[in-house]
Amino acid sequence: MVNTLSRPLRRAAGLALRTRRRVRDERLKRRFASAFLPDRAALATYERELQASGLLEHLRSKGREFDEAVRDVPGPRHTIGAIAYLEGINLYAVLRTVKPHIAVETGVCNGFSTAFSLLALERNGHGELHSIDLPRMIGTDYVPGTFFEGKGQAGVPEGKQPGWLVPDHLRHRWSLILGRSDEHLPELLERVGTIDSFLHDSEHSFENMWFEYSQAFPALREGGVLMSHDINTTEAFPRFAAEHGREPIDLSRGMALIVK
Ligand SMILES: C[S@@+](CC[C@H](N)C(=O)[O-])C[C@H]1O[C@@H](n2cnc3c(N)ncnc32)[C@H](O)[C@@H]1O
Repeated sequence: MVNTLSRPLRRAAGLALRTRRRVRDERLKRRFASAFLPDRAALATYERELQASGLLEHLRSKGREFDEAVRDVPGPRHTIGAIAYLEGINLYAVLRTVKPHIAVETGVCNGFSTAFSLLALERNGHGELHSIDLPRMIGTDYVPGTFFEGKGQAGVPEGKQPGWLVPDHLRHRWSLILGRSDEHLPELLERVGTIDSFLHDSEHSFENMWFEYSQAFPALREGGVLMSHDINTTEAFPRFAAEHGREPIDLSRGMALIVK
């Protein structure tokens, strides 16, 4: 009896939650579009491009492949660690607008943000994406301290490479450095010169976020964008934005950008 009553109730609660989320996401998209995009129609255009590209279905199917691969792996639940679809769409819209020649990101893992970014560059018809990632390979034992202790269980399944779900036809604009961002970012920025966009999604400690922002911001051209995921995990992003007199523009509740 309890079960037959509770199932419809649970369904109704689930529907109400999804509706609330959809309304919230729509509001966020409108705010992002009016704060950052050239006109109101631009976001809809970019969403249509993404739908037509087949990337969303591709990522959904790779997400299922990930779930299948880690389902029986012992230990704590392993996660794909990816940016959300709303964030991917907004990231795509940012890079379609900024049209970077040089884009830099930290934190690749299975490759969601990388795939959205590379599709934007492909549609722009120019640009390179340089990524840095210290991947956690599921099934590998690491020396304690290899990863920041606040890190979740995002990882790459056994037998896969970091960024494995990036479609082959987008890879020709991509270079990947494996290792810690605090070791490799300064050298990368030195090598590529002025950059047009930066995305932080690696280790979300205050020190590392602050380090990456402080390295990337001076390397950005005027009008370039500094984006960050997980902005609510520490004070780093809001404090960095305030110190540089910039107003953050939200791409989601946990992801935002500032314009240089
Ligand atoms: C949240 S995941 C990135 C998700 C990715 N942006 C996406 O949308 O699919 C974070 C990645 O950063 C890596 N990482 C952790 N600490 C790092 C560090 N110090 N330097 C570079 N990468 C790091 C993690 O192992 C993981 O691969």
